[in-house]
Amino acid sequence: MGWAIALHGGAGDIPRSMPAERRQTREVALRHCLDIGVNALKTRRHALDVVELVVRELENHPNFNAGRGSVLTTKGTVEMEACIMDGNTKRCGAVSGLTTVVNPISLARLVMEKTPHIYLAFDGAEDFAREQGVETVDPSHFITPENVERLKQAKEANRVQLDYTQPIPKDAKSETPLADGDSQIGTVGCVAVDNEGNLASATSTGGFVNKMVGRIGDTPIIGAGTYANNLCAISATGKGEAIIRATVARDVAALMEFKGLSLKEAAAHVVEECVPRGTVGLVAVSSTGEITMPLNHTTRHVSACATEEGYSNWIWNSEEN
Ligand code: GLY
Repeated sequence: MGWAIALHGGAGDIPRSMPAERRQTREVALRHCLDIGVNALKTRRHALDVVELVVRELENHPNFNAGRGSVLTTKGTVEMEACIMDGNTKRCGAVSGLTTVVNPISLARLVMEKTPHIYLAFDGAEDFAREQGVETVDPSHFITPENVERLKQAKEANRVQLDYTQPIPKDAKSETPLADGDSQIGTVGCVAVDNEGNLASATSTGGFVNKMVGRIGDTPIIGAGTYANNLCAISATGKGEAIIRATVARDVAALMEFKGLSLKEAAAHVVEECVPRGTVGLVAVSSTGEITMPLNHTTRHVSACATEEGYSNWIWNSEEN
């Protein structure tokens, strides 16, 4: 059985006109993270270690909406969330409302491994981080000038928005905020299957720009933004509220489990039929090394993948390379 890996750096209303330097920075970072994951799989690291390793890298990169680059709440604070799941055992861990933890994904793994619970949030999660001795920093570490500017723009436009979204001209009729007040969002994630057939998924995010304090998205919710079992592993990105309603990640697995669909068929069905257009992208791998990275028509996302057989692909703004 060959290994396979796929990762994403968020989805949403990513403008084609995004400045080349911003696009290039993200591209280089995503390729670097893919290399890290591939090398770990080649040296026979467990899929769970691989997805954690890759997502930690993405969290450390200020140009992705997770960890260091997390977008800001309406009060100008960060509330990070993350989730990790091991496919064969279905063990999982999730965290929300983190303000000081450098790598939320590793705290999620510690919740999975060191507690009788699955999900810790806010003060309890922060206390647990200190108890476990994970790296923490002053919350100001996460407040980047770019995210202060994004929050300012979102407030001026009176909306909740994706980190990639460009400023909206005040008189622009076509850029009316969506009915529920949301625009789009970004997230990072990685799925992998190793040579022993172990599957794992990891997802991490700062959520929406200008989100309400206390808002929790799909990322840490098992079966919504993150899921893995013995058939497949899925990490979703997009509008959390839509992903939660449709239980996106679990539905992909369920269609394989109960209907016998292939990974590609199951993921395409969920993305095309079960969620509103323009709200979701995902990356997924199966136990047989199949990979799929579908997205809604109007949503764009940034993703990359590779397999032991030498297949690799790269998507930027819906264009496959
Ligand atoms: N998918 C990330 C979020 O909605 O927060």
